[in-house]
Amino acid sequence: MTQDELKTLVGQAALQYVVPGEIVGVGTGSTVNKFIEALATLKGRIPGAVSSSDASTARLKALGIPVFDANDVGELAVYIDGADEIDSQGYMIKGGGAALTREKIVAAQSRRFVCIADESKRVQVLGRFPLPVEVIPMATAHITRQFAAMGGTARVRLKDGVPLVTDNGQHILDVTGLSLKDPLAFESSVNQWPGVVTVGVFAHQKAAICLLGTADGVQTLSY
Ligand code: A5P
Repeated sequence: MTQDELKTLVGQAALQYVVPGEIVGVGTGSTVNKFIEALATLKGRIPGAVSSSDASTARLKALGIPVFDANDVGELAVYIDGADEIDSQGYMIKGGGAALTREKIVAAQSRRFVCIADESKRVQVLGRFPLPVEVIPMATAHITRQFAAMGGTARVRLKDGVPLVTDNGQHILDVTGLSLKDPLAFESSVNQWPGVVTVGVFAHQKAAICLLGTADGVQTLSY
């Protein structure tokens, strides 16, 4: 099976976690795009979605799925999103699509995070994937030096040769050379740095379930 087929498989499998009659939290990325396509088949059985990015909002609306403002709804039953890496405890690196801040907000607003991923995303220790960190641009140089002191190399993510601007008007640093052996402590610590908007470690908002697409079908992992 191709990676794309595995994404389709887990995107469809995630439908079983959508609670009829309840608004669903929707993540961002190529795997979630498969989920959004599948979600269109439930139209009318859910009121709609809270979205984690302008890109997902556009896709949801194009399929006729109503999108609610996060401030206009209460706690969500479930949040469905992909990951760049997921470890054996459900801790993740996210933000490859630059949507990490809104993803973490919607995840925090949800009772259960269901991660959908193909098996290439499963790792022993987080950190091979460059860690995305959303930052306020004037803090970029200082934060880069702080990561350097930890052995990391931070680079500003570019788009068309200029710094990528997130949905929140900020920049992304991609940090390599870190080994995240204690994701909870790392997330708590980097979150305190002035100028950091969001660190792409999802440990406090970890997955409760991962639907992992493998050559043998969908594996359900609970944490
Ligand atoms: C978006 O910012 C990310 O957190 C995505 O969830 C993550 O990059 C996974 O994306 P894919 O499903 O495209 O691999």
